[in-house]
Amino acid sequence: MDTVVLNVDQVGAAVDLLRDGQVVAFPTETVYGLGADARNSDAVARIFAAKDRPAFNPLIVHLADAGMVAKIAVVPEMAKALLDLWPGPLTLVLPLKENSGLSPLVTADLDTVAVRVPANTLAQELLRAFGGPIAAPSANPSGKVSATSAAHVLAGLSGRIAAVLDGGMCAVGLESTIVGFDNDGPVLLRPGGVPVEEIEAITGKTLPLRDAETITAPGQMVSHYAPEVAVRLNADQARAGEGWLGFGENMRTAPGLNLSVDGDLSEAAQNLFDAIRKMDAICLRHGLKGFAVAPIPQTGLGLAINDRLQRAAAPRGN
Ligand code: TXA
Ligand code: MG
Repeated sequence: MDTVVLNVDQVGAAVDLLRDGQVVAFPTETVYGLGADARNSDAVARIFAAKDRPAFNPLIVHLADAGMVAKIAVVPEMAKALLDLWPGPLTLVLPLKENSGLSPLVTADLDTVAVRVPANTLAQELLRAFGGPIAAPSANPSGKVSATSAAHVLAGLSGRIAAVLDGGMCAVGLESTIVGFDNDGPVLLRPGGVPVEEIEAITGKTLPLRDAETITAPGQMVSHYAPEVAVRLNADQARAGEGWLGFGENMRTAPGLNLSVDGDLSEAAQNLFDAIRKMDAICLRHGLKGFAVAPIPQTGLGLAINDRLQRAAAPRGN
């Protein structure tokens, strides 16, 4: 199949493809999503096939506004204050409502559903024009680096999906923060685009992080975002045979890039996935076995940046 690139004036064509059960990649403020009609099992199955994603790993349902969430999920009292963060880079895992109309493939037969209202204007336009729930994982082959531009989407999925709606570069650059709820309150399932401190300020509770070993978000495999070459974290400089991914005013002693010369975590987040892709290419071009990464502070968006870097650096499962 030829993957069509649609521009910002072609949202209507994207909607037609979605109504026809096809898979369309679209921009959100976090990363590009790989969208399909969440009520159509044939369409949702095409997402899993395009990504080579294991069927046990559920998808996030995207809605145009918070008012639509009650159709598909039960909103517990302790979740209500967090709805104010929508639209935005936050995903809530909520009890699935009976007769939600969602394909069971979306939730991998779990009794919960992950829901998000994206803020990106093109995503909003698409969701409103489509008028229903769009299931969408990140628009990358399973286990690979997420896409923050239409070119990234095409690099991984060209020929495997009907279209990509090109909205330029994603503003946040990291996937949404995922929050679930247990009897004691909210838990952090994935650090992401909303700093956890912001969520804690709203809930008045410290959010425990469920680490990957307990796999509360089934897709939080230890090895993920895997580049081709090796990654070494918290380095003070590159060693022989390594490239260098800096942050702040580090000395650049090897071929490489800087996530943010000013040490700005938002800028670093926006650059992260593009930088990982480019570092791969730089290392291969220079015959380097991998790259070293400068320390990133573990506050605000740094939590999510370090989470993604740790997964990129983890030993590969396959
Ligand atoms: O920013 C984002 O969240 C992007 C954009 C496109 O919205 N989407 C995204 O989707 O990152 P994905 O599929 O790459 O990551 C979603 C994560 C996976 O780890 C999945 O296992 C988890 O959410 N998840 C989905 N439904 C869940 C559920 N019911 N319970 C626990 N985890 C769930
Ligand atoms: Mg993903």
